[in-house]
Amino acid sequence: MHNADRFADIPNSPFVRLTRLLEGTAPGQPPISMAVGEPQHKIPDFVPRIIAAHGAEFARYPLTAGTESYRAAVADWLERRYALPRPLNPATQVLPLAGSREGLFSAVIALTPAHKQGQRPAILLPNPFYQCYAAAALAAGAEPIYVNATQATGYLPDFEAVPENVWARTSSVFMCSPSNPEGAVYGKEDWRRLFARADHHDCLVLADECYSEIYDETPPHGALEVRARMDEALSRVLVFHSLSKRSSLPGLRAGFVAGDAALIARFRELRNLIAPVVPLPLLAAAEACWRDEAHVEENRALYRAKFDLADRVLGNRPGYFRPAGGFFLWLDVGDGERAALRLWQQAGIRVIPGAYLAKETPSPSGPLNPGAAYIRIALVNDLETTKAALLRIAEALS
Ligand SMILES: Cc1ncc(COP(=O)(O)O)c(C=O)c1O
Repeated sequence: MHNADRFADIPNSPFVRLTRLLEGTAPGQPPISMAVGEPQHKIPDFVPRIIAAHGAEFARYPLTAGTESYRAAVADWLERRYALPRPLNPATQVLPLAGSREGLFSAVIALTPAHKQGQRPAILLPNPFYQCYAAAALAAGAEPIYVNATQATGYLPDFEAVPENVWARTSSVFMCSPSNPEGAVYGKEDWRRLFARADHHDCLVLADECYSEIYDETPPHGALEVRARMDEALSRVLVFHSLSKRSSLPGLRAGFVAGDAALIARFRELRNLIAPVVPLPLLAAAEACWRDEAHVEENRALYRAKFDLADRVLGNRPGYFRPAGGFFLWLDVGDGERAALRLWQQAGIRVIPGAYLAKETPSPSGPLNPGAAYIRIALVNDLETTKAALLRIAEALS
């Protein structure tokens, strides 16, 4: 087997599949992309200034652990944001990441055992899912188990439906809150139940919280916040955060992982060998971002204004809902692929068919793709462009 064949089980990139779907079809109006979840809001003013001021540090290799002051800024932010009962130790419980994606992948490589109870380990992930989770599981030799998140379960993965024999060989669980694509948020009780499971089956909880700061009304509860009140050592949990969405800086490639010191130590050993590092001038700018909330509030307000618009334009459509977090609309249109093609042909709007973000799983009535009925609409453009696009979508889908 060629190494790349390990990933044959994962469908092609949603964006590649979308390009294929639309190939040879002309857009009905000047194109607007709402397909890629790339934040387009303005970056914080201070970021280029800090990078320039630290420019000389491009002459130095950055360390895997970053700088003490970066890790301290992260620990302070976590304590403030989640009202933690005690601060994290920045020396042992925090590491910088070059964006959360590489961390989600390499943590699984570092922390997955060869066997669990004499069997191939399983890694649970929500379905629909961020493709990196499945790639990480397969690269680590584990079996990805796709746990459906449907309207019936509040768009949250139904981990209770996972059979006990699968739980017994589970080494990690990916949980994304707020979730991509549905914007569903895990509550305190949900986290508690998941940790109880993780303790019982001795597996890790990998909490992807990169959308945590993009919320509608209530700041989402976090995995650390709940775990810190159950277990002082934060055992079995790692949280992954990023500035890509929070600070509208997808190109900065800066984030962090935090949690269980024993896991962080093991992860750090692998990172010393192979992981990308964040250049020091960028790390200095990222540190300033974690220390500032004003730009985050502005960013959040702009997303809220766009969801207000969506409420007005699409709110009467059956299947429409305003998500608790994230910046996507997850819209039930009956047949997501057909709707995506129609939106392109009639309105020049690119959106992702939900089926491309999910995996078909067996069900009593035959194979079922939990995303098939949906389209994902990214509200990442400016207000004016978003307004024009939403009006076109409403007309094309009417
Ligand atoms: C659910 C989810 N997790 C992680 C990421 C990775 O983002 P980054 O590497 O920019 O932090 C993304 C990016 O779109 C995402 O949607």
